[in-house]
Amino acid sequence: MSNKNKELMNDIFTNCKLKNGFGPSVQQTAAAPSPTKRPLSPDHPNPALPITETPSPAMSRMGWALRTLLVADNSSCLKDRKVSGKLIRKCAPGTELVDWLVNLAPIVHTRAQAAGMWQALVEEGVLTHVNKEQPFKDKCFLYRFRLDEEGGAPAVGIPQAEDQHAANEHIREALSALFQRGPDATLRMILRKPSHERTSEELELVFEELVHIAALSHLSTSIKRELSSIFVFEAHAQAGTILFNQGDEGRSWYILLKGSVDVVIHGKGTVATLKTGDDFGKLALINDAPRAATIVLKENNCHLLRVDKEHFNRILRDVEANTLRLQEHGKDVLVLERVAKQRGQHSAFKYTVMSGTPAKMLEHLLETRLGQSVGGMDPFLDDFLLTHIVFMPVVQLVDELANYFHCDTHEDAQTPEDREYIVNFKKRVIQFMQKWVMAVRHAAFEEPSVCDFIEDLAAEVEADPDLNEETSIVHNVLTQMARYQEDRNQNAGQKWKLPPNGQPICLFSGNATPSKTVIRPDDDIIFRVYCADHTYCTLRFPMHTTAELIKACAADKLQLNRGPEDLCLVEVRSNGERSVFKDNDVSIPTGLSLNGRLFVSVKDHLDALTQLQEQECPTEGVDIDLEILSTKELAYHITLFEWDLFYAVHEYELLYHTFGRHHFGKITANLDVFLRRFNEVQYWIVTELVSTPSLSKRVGLVRKFIKLAAYCKEYQNLNAFFAVVMGLSNMAVSRLQQTWEKIPSKFRKIFQEFEALIDPSRNHRAYRVFVGKLQPPLIPFMPLLLKDMTFAHEGNKTSLDGLVNFEKMHMMAQTMRTIRFCRSRSLGLEPPSPKSEGEVRSYISSFRVIDNQRVLTAMSQKVEPTRKL
Ligand code: CMP
Repeated sequence: MSNKNKELMNDIFTNCKLKNGFGPSVQQTAAAPSPTKRPLSPDHPNPALPITETPSPAMSRMGWALRTLLVADNSSCLKDRKVSGKLIRKCAPGTELVDWLVNLAPIVHTRAQAAGMWQALVEEGVLTHVNKEQPFKDKCFLYRFRLDEEGGAPAVGIPQAEDQHAANEHIREALSALFQRGPDATLRMILRKPSHERTSEELELVFEELVHIAALSHLSTSIKRELSSIFVFEAHAQAGTILFNQGDEGRSWYILLKGSVDVVIHGKGTVATLKTGDDFGKLALINDAPRAATIVLKENNCHLLRVDKEHFNRILRDVEANTLRLQEHGKDVLVLERVAKQRGQHSAFKYTVMSGTPAKMLEHLLETRLGQSVGGMDPFLDDFLLTHIVFMPVVQLVDELANYFHCDTHEDAQTPEDREYIVNFKKRVIQFMQKWVMAVRHAAFEEPSVCDFIEDLAAEVEADPDLNEETSIVHNVLTQMARYQEDRNQNAGQKWKLPPNGQPICLFSGNATPSKTVIRPDDDIIFRVYCADHTYCTLRFPMHTTAELIKACAADKLQLNRGPEDLCLVEVRSNGERSVFKDNDVSIPTGLSLNGRLFVSVKDHLDALTQLQEQECPTEGVDIDLEILSTKELAYHITLFEWDLFYAVHEYELLYHTFGRHHFGKITANLDVFLRRFNEVQYWIVTELVSTPSLSKRVGLVRKFIKLAAYCKEYQNLNAFFAVVMGLSNMAVSRLQQTWEKIPSKFRKIFQEFEALIDPSRNHRAYRVFVGKLQPPLIPFMPLLLKDMTFAHEGNKTSLDGLVNFEKMHMMAQTMRTIRFCRSRSLGLEPPSPKSEGEVRSYISSFRVIDNQRVLTAMSQKVEPTRKL
């Protein structure tokens, strides 16, 4: 090789000197990922430009060899030519280069193959169009070797024989490699052309290639054909280039054709590396959300296929794969599934969370799902807020939020973009806080860790001028918190009692008004605990006291002289059934059945426990002649009374009840009282009827109760409606043939309609259809909501492969939302008449009730003995 050419070759192979027009100013890089820089995405790649920063050694050498032979050939097309009065050294038209190559190499059969091989040189910058406007075309456009460009390497003369020999040798060895690269280079060139410039043959070529891409395998042929015209090829020369940043607006979806990229998340660093064949970036497109991660190129010369948002929405949105799995460090952390459009949402489809780790779900919420809930709360956020206590205790949630809020303390130098990102993040934490308080109300303020966090947040927001707009949100939350605390202080020291005769739990003393009184964990309750010989002690404990403590204290007072491990706390129902409490169970007295009694017993002697005599008798109630009370007024006061009980139940109590309150150490007292009330009304109906000896009075009562059910239905108190109708359907009542025979057919027909409405078949379909048409305020049939919760709980695991099964959480939140819906408007019933108000009110607040079915049936037999045939 001549010295001159040797120099030239050295220059070429040391590789960095011939830059392909990529400079640091063209692409931002993030060698040490500082993923806050704005990316510069080559939105409109130019097929005339190279895709590498420098030519690869192989292509440089190939170019050198081809050029050497072309220059050596006197008759060759590579000549100095004048174009528009300007001399261009050693250039040749595309057509002649193609002719020359077809002649040179026996493996090249078609002109298209030769053109592809020249394009392989063009895409690495070894050969260029003289004006850098064209990729390689088998046309009369002029091309020249990079070496001959002005400003490039010095011009060289006729190559010496030894160089020609070396060039020939090289071409013999390496031409087939170039031959193989031709089709790919052609394809990349087509994919960099604007769609309207792609010919039908070119589209066919692209289509044939798309068939082999795994990320597209689920798509139909017609969609792949559409994609052929809109896929864009992007090449990025340098590792460290940021394709897009976390928090950016999503503009494209990508498939990685060559190379690898890192998925980087603020505060976590690189969480995953995606490889050839993987795709990314559709989450932001489908959810119309900010990017969940920054994508940084891990290698030089990465190749990507890109589909821009408008095309993605038009072609892919509706057919995209149903499930999307996000991984971190090789493990699934979030599994999303596409769901159909919900009314009122502007995007056609959304990915919703099916399962995930608690922390990733929270990150997903904070990063991508806040701030876009036009017209109400994002259902995923609402589900999360209603159910997080199952998988992420409050203390952990507060910790995570505090970490997010203080993410800036870890970063040293902050660019304005970093700062903007951090401020946005802080704003989202504040929004989250506001929505949290909105969704769960006082339950958030009951946690000291939440109150501390809110106060810290408020102080920081006040001190940060960037968070000026957030001060009003924080003040609003603070005001609500202060109101809650004031209310709490006012009602502190409430005392409840569970009277010995099994009356409903009632407020014993305290400052609170009798209505809308919530039972709180530290309210005291006074109740009796019996032992096997029916002696008892009276205890007073806060509601949240554990069974273990009650057991120990009762054993001590009753002088049982046994260690706590030998003893248990047990309920004995009026029918003699027993159920043992777990040591860590709480709100014990409110959980008792209507006529149940609490016993402390030696574990081995449980069988010896018998119910008290008084448990078979009716509970005490106001003695009044029911006949004289107006039915409508009864229904009215029952509804007002039960509305208050229903209003006091927090949605969380349904979760505590379903998962077991001992898991949370939280009371379910308000829910207990409401459920107890259902049984009270139901058994009141039965008790009244079976304890009325006069047939005509019984007939009058049945008519009254049917009317009562009708009024309860009218007042939308479905809980009482069910209780009354179930009472009338109780075996002890339905068997009263003589009574029913005397009920006018008009009433019997109404009753049949009511029975059809409470028919449990097809999962209470009749009721569900009926209640589905009602508008709030309404009191739902609570036992069905609890059944739905239990069904969701028992039919679905809480954790799937180490991830929270969020579908289950969603099902539970739906039921909890029903409660919220029912009381989303306040009850404003017109009073039927003001006259006997006090009397009716005190009557309905405590009914005389026997809840032992055996006793009720026996009484029924007594009033109407079975007729002998
Ligand atoms: P998108 O939010 O549109 O942009 C960032 C992309 O990174 C995201 O879509 C996913 O396609 C991809 N990605 C891969 N793994 C993760 C991860 N663990 N967390 C977030 N995004 C991820």
